[in-house]
This record gives sequence, C-alpha cells and structure tokens, in this order.
Amino acid sequence: MSHSWSAKEHKNANAPTTTGQKRTRNDGGNKVTVVLGAQWGDEGKGKVVDLLATEADIVCRCQGGNNAGHTVVVDGKEYDFHLLPSGIINPKSISLIGNGVVIHLPGLFEECEKNEKKGLRGWEKRLIVSDRAHIVFDFHQVVDGLQETERQAQDGKNIGTTKKGIGPAYSSKASRTGLRICDLLGDYKEFSTKFKNLVRQYQNMYPSLVVDVEDQLKKLKEYAERLRPMVRDGVYYMYEALHGSPKKILVEGANAALLDIDFGTYPFVTSSNCTVGGACTGLGIPPLNIGDVFGVAKAYTTRVGIGAFPTEQLNAIGDLLQSRGHEVGVTTGRKRRCGWLDLVIVRYAHMINGFTAIAMTKLDILDVLDEIKVGVAYKLNGKRIPHFPANMDVLQKVEVEYETFPGWKTDTSAARKWNDLPAKAQNYIRFIENHIGVPIKWVGVGKSRECMIQMF
Ligand code: GDP
Ligand code: IMO
Ligand code: MG
Repeated sequence: MSHSWSAKEHKNANAPTTTGQKRTRNDGGNKVTVVLGAQWGDEGKGKVVDLLATEADIVCRCQGGNNAGHTVVVDGKEYDFHLLPSGIINPKSISLIGNGVVIHLPGLFEECEKNEKKGLRGWEKRLIVSDRAHIVFDFHQVVDGLQETERQAQDGKNIGTTKKGIGPAYSSKASRTGLRICDLLGDYKEFSTKFKNLVRQYQNMYPSLVVDVEDQLKKLKEYAERLRPMVRDGVYYMYEALHGSPKKILVEGANAALLDIDFGTYPFVTSSNCTVGGACTGLGIPPLNIGDVFGVAKAYTTRVGIGAFPTEQLNAIGDLLQSRGHEVGVTTGRKRRCGWLDLVIVRYAHMINGFTAIAMTKLDILDVLDEIKVGVAYKLNGKRIPHFPANMDVLQKVEVEYETFPGWKTDTSAARKWNDLPAKAQNYIRFIENHIGVPIKWVGVGKSRECMIQMF
C-alpha cells in the first residue's frame, strides 16, 4: 500500500530563481516529510523511512552521526545504517547527508563497503554530502571515551555514550574550532594547520591524548579525494530540490526527542536537536516547507545508556520485552533497558514536534502478555503534574499512573490490515491514539517492510 505523499505546494508567487528564468509553478515549493523518534531512540525509524523511501526522490539525514543505528529488513536481508540515510537502498532516490550531521569519514566508508558486500550497488552515485557538515575525527572518539572515564571518576556514573565522538565533535562545532567538509576539500595546507591546532587544544585538555598527526592527515587526504565527487553546497541543493519540479523529500531523524540536547533528559542526552527544528537547521529547510511530521514510537519503551526511565520494568516483564523484542543496541550491542509504554513522554515529544501522525512499531512483541500497562500521567507528592520535568532528580522521583489493558494473547505477526488485529489490540491502539491526540497511521507487527499495517 502506498503512502499518500503530500508533496504539497503552497502559494508564494514569484519565488526567486537564481537563474532568473520564470518558473512553471507559482508556489513556495515542495513540502518535506519528516520522520522522528518519539521516545529514547530505536523506535523503528529505519523501517518507517524505508517504507516511505520506496517512493522518495531524496532521503536526508539532518543531525547526529554514527551514534544512530537504523535497521531495515528487505526481502529477508537485514541492513543497518548509521550515517547513510536508510533510503540509500532505493536505487531511484538520492541520499543527502546534511550540514547538521557530524561525519566520521572512516565510519562512513566502512558502512558503505559493508553494505556493498550485502548487495548495495551504485551508492556513490546516489550519495550527496553537504560541504557544511562537520567532521568527527578519530581523536574525537578517543576523547568521548576519556570524558566517559572522567564522568565515572567524578560523578560515579557516566552517560553511556556510543563513544562515536558525537559530543566532542558538536563541542568543537559550538566552540568554533571544528572543521567542516568544505575545509577538508579546500586548501589542504590551511586544513592541516587548523587540524594541528585543534589536536593541540584537545591535548591541552587531555594530556594523555596521543594523536599521530601526520598519519591522520595522510588518511584524511585520501578520504577527501574519495568524498570530493559527492560533496555539494547542501543549502543550494536543497533549495533547488524544494523549488524545482514536484519532489518527494524525506528527512530521517536520528536518535529521538528524549535524547534531544534541548528537550531530552539532560544531561543523559545526545548532542544534537533530534526534534523537528533539527530538520530545518540541519538541512537549510525553511519551516514553511515542513509538511507531515511522523513520530515513531514503540508499543512499549526502551532506553540505551544511563538516565531516568520512569516506566522501566526491572523484572520479568522487562526481561520478556528485552528478549522477545531483541532489544540490543544496533551501534553498541548493549542490551536495551525495557519498560511499559510511557505516554507522558510521547505526548511531550508531540508538544515539541507537532506530529501529524504516529507510526507505532513492535505491537507483536506484546502478543504473549496477560495484561499490558500504559503510563498515562506522572505524580509528584501524590499530585498529577501537567508537564514533563526538566530536572532529572525530579524525574527520578515521579510516580507513574498506569492504565491496565487485558492482553490479546494472539499472534499478530501475520496481520496486514486493521481488521486482522484482535479487538483487544485494536482497543490498545485506539486508547493510545486518543490519549496522545494524534492519529496512528501505521502499526508494526514484524521486522520486514510488509509487516506494517497502514490505517489510512
Ligand atoms: P531505529 O534506530 O529507530 O531505526 O530503530 P532500530 O533499528 O535501532 O531498532 C528497531 C528494531 O526493531 C530493529 O531491529 C527493527 O528491525 C525492529 N522492528 C521495527 N519495527 C518492528 C515491528 O513492528 N515488529 C518487530 N518485531 N520488530 C520491529
Ligand atoms: P537511533 O537513531 C538509542 C544514546 C546513547 C547515550 C546517549 C548519548 O538508533 O535511535 P551519544 O553517543 O549520542 O553521545 O550518546 O544517547 N543514543 C541513542 N540511544 N538510539 C540512538 O539512535 C541513540 N543515539 C544516541 O545510548 O545514552
Ligand atoms: Mg537505532
């Protein structure tokens, strides 16, 4: 079943063209569809993007780096994408890595080669990389590890990062010493000087940091030449895509709302904006060109790494969700923490993102449960609170109010339409939809592309 792509056009007569010629269309351009994680990540964004990407012209990543791990299962073959947009498997669509992404070049090429072995062909002709994207250097990854050790020593706990250098690379960006793809492809002498200065800065902070500067510069030069044919001015590329002929443009969010640097469970978050604003700033898309915003949420909740998790089940239920759901991190191989669906966080994600619809994945994992609980409100000192607490000490203390539903105790994995689902599962879905106040457009009942019930 095909998704009704908006590719909506809105009126903005005489939008400028850089070449000055008259447009055949008088509008403000194509609308972009955005797919975002509505929990703590690993909701199944890759699968939803894959579903939509079969019809997309361009699939873009706007933030994060290879801390993300997005699984796509097609024809029984499982792919995991980290920096590559999941749309790369569609031979008809372009994959764009936007300016908001931080790129570890060895990681990017390793990923491409790994997928080539799985049968991915022609990716180099379909991949475009923004010249404004920042680079994650190997030493950023080493520093990520050193910072985790430091946190553990100072606070008795760390963040549980993926150690992919994400925090240090975004720190370099924010402190304006970071290096971008355009620097790498520019005057290499100039780039080398800046690289050496950046290394020195980090060595001043972390005296144990050893970097073989000449070896790094040699390798980076090789990566620069491999990358050069794929690099474009990302802003202009997106402008042309938005204002050229009607196009279906998809943005694949990485990480998730509760890991957002501004809105997540700070400091146990990642270092980018994983909410809808990140799609604009990470690609140069004007807010008016944002169309559908699809939130992806599992039928229960998981979290990798440290931090508050009010509906976590440190018991047989949590263990069952973990094992039935194969809840193991795609990037780090860590076991994911598991608990009941927390609608407080999904509603909070909706407050920020304004979801137009939700994709609810992994309903099938709940098939064997006698009863299913859903967190519907938080209480502090016996009183319901209407907001999501900013302070982690407060969040650790909330008491979760649950609604309890009878389990359907039926295998849903073969369901392909709404009517194939047992009534009790339908009730569960309808309750969630009403509570969040957003329609559920898809329900996932298995890993592969066809295991997605489309509701409208
Ligand atoms: P992402 O990071 O949001 O793209 O999600 P991940 O790929 O990290 O984790 C989601 C996992 O759930 C993957 O192993 C998917 O293959 C799997 N998955 C996605 N949707 C469903 C579903 O509806 N049912 C089941 N059983 N597995 C699913
Ligand atoms: P996808 O896109 C789940 C978590 C890490 C850690 C915190 C900070 O697959 O949903 P970082 O390396 O980003 O500095 O780690 O954020 N984290 C994720 N958890 N899925 C992800 O991505 C994540 N990306 C980061 O586990 O707790
Ligand atoms: Mg993931």
